[in-house]
Amino acid sequence: MPMTAKTLSRRGFVQILGTGAAAAALRLPDFKTATAAAATAPAVDKVVRLSSNENPYGPSPAAFDAMRDAFRLAWRYPDEHVDALVADLAKLHGVGTDHILAGAGSSEILKIAAAAFTGPGKPAVTADPTFEALARYASKGGAPVVKVPLTADYRHDVPALLKAAAGGGLVYVCNPNNPTATITPKAQVRELIAQAPAGATVLVDEAYHHYADSGDYETVIPLVHDHPNLIVARTFSKIHGMAGLRLGYAVAQPETLARLRDQQAWDSLNILVVVAARASLQDTGHLEKSRRLNRETRDWLRSSVGGLGYKLLPSETNFLMIDLKKDVAPVIEALKGRGVEVGRRFAALPECLRVTIGTRPQMEAFLGAFRGVMA
Ligand SMILES: Cc1ncc(COP(=O)(O)O)c(C=O)c1O
Repeated sequence: MPMTAKTLSRRGFVQILGTGAAAAALRLPDFKTATAAAATAPAVDKVVRLSSNENPYGPSPAAFDAMRDAFRLAWRYPDEHVDALVADLAKLHGVGTDHILAGAGSSEILKIAAAAFTGPGKPAVTADPTFEALARYASKGGAPVVKVPLTADYRHDVPALLKAAAGGGLVYVCNPNNPTATITPKAQVRELIAQAPAGATVLVDEAYHHYADSGDYETVIPLVHDHPNLIVARTFSKIHGMAGLRLGYAVAQPETLARLRDQQAWDSLNILVVVAARASLQDTGHLEKSRRLNRETRDWLRSSVGGLGYKLLPSETNFLMIDLKKDVAPVIEALKGRGVEVGRRFAALPECLRVTIGTRPQMEAFLGAFRGVMA
């Protein structure tokens, strides 16, 4: 079948050209140009997308190089490359390779965890508000969903979560939490894990781990050694800037991972994201740069919005929650009319606006539109 010209990204800055007979002459994209274009694209986009907590600085240049080199491997299943990635992740986290399961985004990890550990009579216990995916997957599988309101200072309510999970099921802890951007202090997460009832599994979603600076936050990955009922989920969609490529993973004991693996599609990973992730793990400078730029831009936006008289929730992530003191729904629509997309309305916090921290030009565009809408 003749190959047609295809664009590799929604922004259309890369083109692969080729014909069936001339497939060998496939022209590879210039990824140096692509990287630069990715970094500057948001400022010239018609729509400023600040709705999905993506990293506006994109993947590491080393990840682009690795993907270009891996095009020629596209015909093969990615087995040995996944094994190499798992080995890298195991080394990073100080666990055995049998403690890591990679998936197509952490969404796949959440979905298979819901399938494995919830069902009729086995509830999904989550905070409210929190990232809704796990509760949705569980409820589609016939599980009851118990929503436990966050505390007044936006922490997970550990005693209430434990009580709700007394009969088993899956407790989902998003730390830092989406959409509030807040953390649950490490002592409380430890307490939850230590006291979880025997029949209950605890899934700690650390999608925003790299953005948390507070001394009161910690990853719970080291705790998997002592807790067979603990699963930690991570993603390459946030600080690694690869949301469009789809990679996440779970860290847990082998028997727990076996139950997740039973629910997973075979070969759900693609080779490009696997090699890109390995390269990204090596490029700690790129991660550090993303973290620093996020912190600087977040501080600037916080003081700018605060200067307009609005209160904001503390943020340990790449997004901010602004308390509007009025329903956010019309504000979301009005911002959209001005070309700025922000987070959806969360029923438990209907007066708060969630905005992703983009580049400084993007946030200046947001601030201009926000002033106009709120005037
Ligand atoms: C807390 C949290 N977990 C998981 C995800 C899903 O991420 P992905 O499937 O891209 O890894 C998101 C996406 O925004 C998120 O906010």
